[in-house]
Amino acid sequence: MASVAPEVEKKEEEEQVVNPWEVSAGKGGIDYDKLVDQFGCQRLDAALIDRIARLTGRPPHRFLRRGLFFAHRDLNEILDIYEKGDKFYLYTGRGPSSEALHLGHLVPFMFTKYLQDAFKVPLVIQLTDDEKFLWKNLTVEESKRLARENAKDIIACGFDVERTFIFSDFNFVGGAFYENMVKVARCVTYNKVVGIFGFTPEDHIGKISFPPVQAVPSFPSSFPKHFSGNDQLRCLIPCAIDQDPYFRMTRDVAPRIGYQKPALIESRFFPALQGENTKMSASDPNSAIYVTDSTKDIKTKVNKYAFSGGQDSVELHRKLGANLEVDVSIKYLNFFLEDDDELERIKKVILQDIRTTLYSYLVSNWAVLML
Ligand code: TRP
Repeated sequence: MASVAPEVEKKEEEEQVVNPWEVSAGKGGIDYDKLVDQFGCQRLDAALIDRIARLTGRPPHRFLRRGLFFAHRDLNEILDIYEKGDKFYLYTGRGPSSEALHLGHLVPFMFTKYLQDAFKVPLVIQLTDDEKFLWKNLTVEESKRLARENAKDIIACGFDVERTFIFSDFNFVGGAFYENMVKVARCVTYNKVVGIFGFTPEDHIGKISFPPVQAVPSFPSSFPKHFSGNDQLRCLIPCAIDQDPYFRMTRDVAPRIGYQKPALIESRFFPALQGENTKMSASDPNSAIYVTDSTKDIKTKVNKYAFSGGQDSVELHRKLGANLEVDVSIKYLNFFLEDDDELERIKKVILQDIRTTLYSYLVSNWAVLML
């Protein structure tokens, strides 16, 4: 049977798809520049990073130094507020789809912890157990259980207990939070939500009605116990860029219901062990390193699955060096190794043939070695 013409197939293959439920890239990996333009967010430039460092009196986090958090919306306004001596609050979240968190899940939480420490601000963390009930084939009980399990991993990141509120949707939605949900829902047409999220007529209405749930923690009035009388308090959301559609919608609605738009600071994806073409995914256990993995598991996973940028033979490697563009080990070190000099040193070593490195080491240290 004649199927799709090869050119069409190729085009489809190459097109990158990024939304809260699917991240897939063309062959060259995710094109983040294109994404920023397509989503209409702003690039996080050196001047803004310097400003964060100046205002907080701390060196910028390595995720900022290395461009891993690379895009934002209205971050300048949040910094203006802070500079004037006023506060804001942080909001982030997690959809509990796996028993434990993996390294990719930790990234926004590690960064949020840094922001909370640096700015000394309150933080709300939403566990969207309802979202995972609606999208994954889970029971209500199982989604709630996973949310509770995940909360432990999140707490272990070390947030300020006096300034942090973690909630699950199944437990918390109601009252002022629900009032804000319906206010948002009334402002978003079916056509609009299809345009933003790509829902199809076959999708059940649970999915279509979910976005307001993730939107309203951006509004302080959803948390009357925590922010009462502070309805115009600004909100900053650290998240991976795949969550942007939710907050595009939220920002669009906010002024129409008398609220402030949330600001955003957005990260790249954490690559799967198999390479940068997709993000680390909870649905493929071999693509990810979990916080519950033993040292032995980690060793096996790294040795067996971490995609290498090394060349096929020593000769080729000597000639071409490693390809750091695709090497997963160096990408992970880029996320987690704090020391910039050490990272540069390692990059240099793996760029060369290790024997060449040994040779030049011996030559340059010969006098010392001969002592
Ligand atoms: N939808 C997110 C997920 O599946 C969870 C989430 C809820 C979130 N609120 C958020 C993520 C705010 C970042 C910021 O993981």
